Amino acid sequence: MSPSTTFATRMVRWQRSHGRHDLPWQNTQDPYKVWLSEIMLQQTQVSTVLDYYARFLNRFPDVHALAAAHQDEVLALWSGLGYYSRARNLHKCAQQVVSQWAGVFPSTAAQLQTLPGIGPSTAAAVAAFCFQERVAILDGNVKRVLSRVLGFGQDLASSANEKQLWAYAQELLPRQAPDMPAYTQALMDLGATLCLPRRAACEQCPVAQQCEARAQAQPLAYPVKTRRLVRRSESWWLLWAQDAQGRIWLEQRPQRGVWAGLFSLPVFADQDTLLASCPQAQSGQHLSAWVHVLTHKDLHLHPVRVNLGSGQPPAGAQGQWFTREEALALGLPAPVRKLFQGA
Ligand code: ADE
Repeated sequence: MSPSTTFATRMVRWQRSHGRHDLPWQNTQDPYKVWLSEIMLQQTQVSTVLDYYARFLNRFPDVHALAAAHQDEVLALWSGLGYYSRARNLHKCAQQVVSQWAGVFPSTAAQLQTLPGIGPSTAAAVAAFCFQERVAILDGNVKRVLSRVLGFGQDLASSANEKQLWAYAQELLPRQAPDMPAYTQALMDLGATLCLPRRAACEQCPVAQQCEARAQAQPLAYPVKTRRLVRRSESWWLLWAQDAQGRIWLEQRPQRGVWAGLFSLPVFADQDTLLASCPQAQSGQHLSAWVHVLTHKDLHLHPVRVNLGSGQPPAGAQGQWFTREEALALGLPAPVRKLFQGA
C-alpha cells in the first residue's frame, strides 16, 4: 500500500482480511436485528450477548412481536444482562417504530436518534450498517482508537472536546458509501482486538504507520479523560420469605432506580426493619453477604431467609407468592436469580 493510502481504505481492507465476519448480527441489513445487537452490546461483551441475542430473536423475531409483548416478559428475557433501562427503552422504541413509523425503522441517523434509547453513536451504527449512511460512530472503543491515531490529547470528559473528536471522525470516513459497513465494523474490531485500553498491539495494526500516539511511543496515553465516578456504597437487606409450600414472596421494584421494574426480594435498609416486617416468623437464617457492583454504587447484599408458614405476607409488602419455577421465569436482578438457582 502506498504511504498516501487513506486511513479508511486501510481499515476497510483490514476488516475484510482480519476483522470479525461471523457474528450473528453481521451479514444482515435488517435494522431490527442490528439495532437489537447494538443495544445489547452497549456495556456488555460479545461473548455474553451471543446467547441473549439468539433467545431474544427467537421469541421476538421482528419489531411487531417485540412491541406487542408485555414489559415483564421483555425484562425477563433481559434478566442478567444488567442496565435494565436498556430493556425498557428497547420495548418503548419497538412500540414507537410500530405506532409512528408503520413498523419500519427510519433510515437516517438523525431520525433514528429521535427514538427511545438510541443515542448518536447507536443511531450512526444502525444507519451505517443497514443504510450505508456516511456517519461516524463514537463509542468508547472508537474514542480510544481515534484519539490514539490522531494524538487527540484533549480531555474527553468535556463535551466540546468530544464534539471536536466527532468532527474529526466524520472527516476520516470512507468516500464511498458502500464501504461504510466494513469501515464501521473495522473501527469496532480494532478497538476490541488490537487497540485495547491497557495494551496496544501496534505491530499488527493496519494504521500503525499513520498513528500519532505510536509515533510518540505513547499509545496508552490516549484517550485523556479526567472525570472519575464518585462511588457510593449501600447495605441492602433482602427478605427471602417462604410459605409452607416453599413459595417465595416477591415484589416488583419501582419503575425508577436500581433494578427498576424487575421482581425482587423485598429490600430493607437494615436488619431490624427487615425482621419487623415479619413478626410471625420464629427466626431468620442469615445467608452470607456479598458485594454487588453497579455503575455508581456498591450494594452490600444481606439475604435473610424466613419461614412464614401461614402464608401471611410480610407486613406492608406489596407483592405476590411465586413458586421457585415461576420466579425464575420472571425478570429478576442477577444476584437474586443466583440466590434462587443455588437454592
Ligand atoms: N460492539 C458494538 N457494536 C458491535 C458490533 N457490531 N460488533 C461487535 N462489537 C460491537
